[in-house]
Amino acid sequence: MHLQFVLSITLVGLAVANPLSSPLAKRAAIDDCLRAANVPVDAPNSNDWRADANPFNQRLKYTPVAIAVPTTVAQVQAAVSCAAKVGVKVNPKSGGHSYASFGLGGENGHFVVQLDRMNAVTYDSATQIATVQAGARLGRVATALYNNGKRAFSHGTCPGVGVAGHSLHGGFGFSSHTHGLAVDAIVGATVVLADASVIETSQTENPHIFWALRGAGSNFGIVTSLKFKTFAAPSQVTVFSINLPWNNASAIVQGWSAIQDWLKAGMPKEMNGRVFGNRMQTQIQGLYHGTQDQLQTAIQPLLTKLNAQLSQQQQYDWMGAFSYYTYGQQVDVSRPYNLVETFYSKSLVTPALPDDVLQNVANYWDQKARSNNRGWFIIIDLYGGANSAITKVDSNATAYPFRDPNNHLFLYEFYDRVHSGSYPSNGFEFLDGWVKSFTDGLTTDQWGMYINYADPTLNRTTAQDVYYRKNLPKLRALKTELDPTELFYYPQAVQPA
Ligand SMILES: Cc1cc2nc3c(=O)[nH]c(=O)nc-3n(C[C@H](O)[C@H](O)[C@H](O)COP(=O)(O)OP(=O)(O)OC[C@H]3O[C@@H](n4cnc5c(N)ncnc54)[C@H](O)[C@@H]3O)c2cc1C
Ligand SMILES: *[C@@H]1O[C@H](CO)[C@@H](O)[C@H](O)[C@H]1NC(C)=O
Ligand SMILES: *[C@@H]1O[C@H](CO)[C@@H](O)[C@H](O)[C@H]1NC(C)=O
Ligand SMILES: *[C@@H]1O[C@H](CO)[C@@H](O)[C@H](O)[C@H]1NC(C)=O
Repeated sequence: MHLQFVLSITLVGLAVANPLSSPLAKRAAIDDCLRAANVPVDAPNSNDWRADANPFNQRLKYTPVAIAVPTTVAQVQAAVSCAAKVGVKVNPKSGGHSYASFGLGGENGHFVVQLDRMNAVTYDSATQIATVQAGARLGRVATALYNNGKRAFSHGTCPGVGVAGHSLHGGFGFSSHTHGLAVDAIVGATVVLADASVIETSQTENPHIFWALRGAGSNFGIVTSLKFKTFAAPSQVTVFSINLPWNNASAIVQGWSAIQDWLKAGMPKEMNGRVFGNRMQTQIQGLYHGTQDQLQTAIQPLLTKLNAQLSQQQQYDWMGAFSYYTYGQQVDVSRPYNLVETFYSKSLVTPALPDDVLQNVANYWDQKARSNNRGWFIIIDLYGGANSAITKVDSNATAYPFRDPNNHLFLYEFYDRVHSGSYPSNGFEFLDGWVKSFTDGLTTDQWGMYINYADPTLNRTTAQDVYYRKNLPKLRALKTELDPTELFYYPQAVQPA
C-alpha cells in the first residue's frame, strides 16, 4: 500500500518534470502525420470526438491522443503507420463496449482507430458466407443477414456491441449451445498488422495468425473485415422463462444442482439459456430453437427436477426473438450510439460446482448479494455439457481456450452498477468476494475468466493467465513475432515472450 503510494507520487513528479514524455504531448506529431496521409480524424472536442471517446463504461473514461475515423483499409494502414512513426500506442475500437474501455486503450494517451464508419454486411448465397466490416454492430449484422436469405451466426444479444471486439474474443449468446460461439463462425479475417501491411487470414492463409485472432484479436492488429459461416435461421423459435424461488441458500443449492446435472448430462442441443439473478428475482431465461410444443417436451425433464413450471413462453420468428432479448433497444443501430452505464464487472468459467463450493457460493448470494442495494446482477450462461457445440472444438484449435467438456460448464457475468453518481471506491470487494467463493474451491485448470467481460483490476500477469490459460505461451511467442514493440498495447495485452 505505502510503497504503491510513494511510487505513484514519483511517477506524477516525473511526468510533470518532463512533459514531452507524456503520450498526450505527441498530439501535434500524430495529427501532422494523419493529415499528410489523408486519414480522416475527429477534431478534438467536436461532437464526433465526444461521441467516439465516450466509453460504454462511464467508470473508465480516458482521453485519446487522437481519434482516426477511417472508411477504407488503406486509411487503417496509414493510421497504423503513423502510430509506429510517432511512437504512440494504437487500439482499434469497433462497438466501444469493452468493460475496461480497452477500445480507448484502457489508459490516457492512446491513438484510437474508431471503425464504426466501416459497417457493411454482405452475404454470398453460393458459399453461405457473410462478409462483415469490423465496425458493424450486432443488431445491424443480424438484421442484414436475416434480410439476405434468413441466415444467422451465433452472437450475443446487445444490438450495440461491435462485431469485431465481440467475435475476436469469444461471443456467447442464445444460439451458442446449438451452434458455438461467434469466434467459431469466423472462417476468415482481413487484418492490418503492426508493420502496416494488410493480409488475409484463414485456415489456409497465414493460419498461425488466424489462430491467434480467434480469441486474442486485439493483440495482433486491426481486423478490418471478417468472414462468417452462417446457418439457416430456424423459422420458429420459442422464448421462455422459469422463475426460480432462490430466496434462501438451500433453495439456491437445490436448484443449481438440478440445473447443472441436466446441463452436464446433455441439455437438448436446440436449448439455449442462462440463469439471470438480481435483487428482485431469479429466473432461467431461454431460447429454444423450435416450436412451443417441441420446447415443452425438451424442457420437461428439467421442470421435473426443479419441481417448477414454465413461467412464460412465446413463439417468435428469428428476429422477433432477437428483438425480445434486446428489451426494447433499437435493433439495427449504427451511430451515434449513446447507451452508457457505470459499473464494475467480473467473469468466470467453471465446471459443475462441487457441493462445498456451491454451498459457499449460495451463502454469499443469500447473505452478501441480497443485502447489496446497488443494481447488481449475475448471469450464469448454460455454456457446456455433453451436447454443447462450444466444447466440441479443441481447446487449442483457436486462441480462445475454454473448451474442456469436463471443466467448462458455466460462463458467468457478475455486474454491479450504480444508476447515478460514481461507483463507490469500496464497492469492488462485493464482486471480488463472490468470485473468490467459487475459485477458492477449484484448481486453476478448472476455471478461467472471459476477456469480453474484462476486469481491469487484475494485474497484467494474472489477466493474461486467466484469459488464455494453456494457450498463453503460444500467444506470447506470436506477439514477439508480430508486434515486438507492443504497438497494439493495453494494460492487459498479451506480453511478448
Ligand atoms: C450491453 C452489453 C451486452 C453484452 N452482451 C454480451 C453477450 O450477450 N455475450 C457476450 O459474449 N458478450 C457480451 N458483451 C461483451 C462484449 O462481447 C465485449 O464487451 C466486446 O469486446 C465488445 O466489443 P466492441 O467491439 O463493442 O468493443 P470495443 O471496446 O470497441 O473493443 C473491445 C476490444 O476489442 C478490440 N477490438 C475492437 N475492434 C477490433 C478490431 N477491428 N480488430 C482487433 N481488435 C479489435 C479493442 O481494441 C478492445 O480491446 C456485452 C457487452 C455489453 C456492454
Ligand atoms: C427456502 O426456500 C424454499 C423455496 O421458497 C422454501 O420451500 C424453504 O422452506 C426455504 N427454506 C428455508 C430454510 O427458509
Ligand atoms: C493441439 O494439440 C494437439 C495435441 O497436443 C496437437 O496435436 C495439435 O497440433 C494442436 N493444435 C494446434 C492448432 O496447435
Ligand atoms: C498480480 O496479482 C496476483 C494475484 O493478486 C499476485 O499474486 C501477483 O503477485 C501480482 N503480480 C504482480 C507482478 O504484481
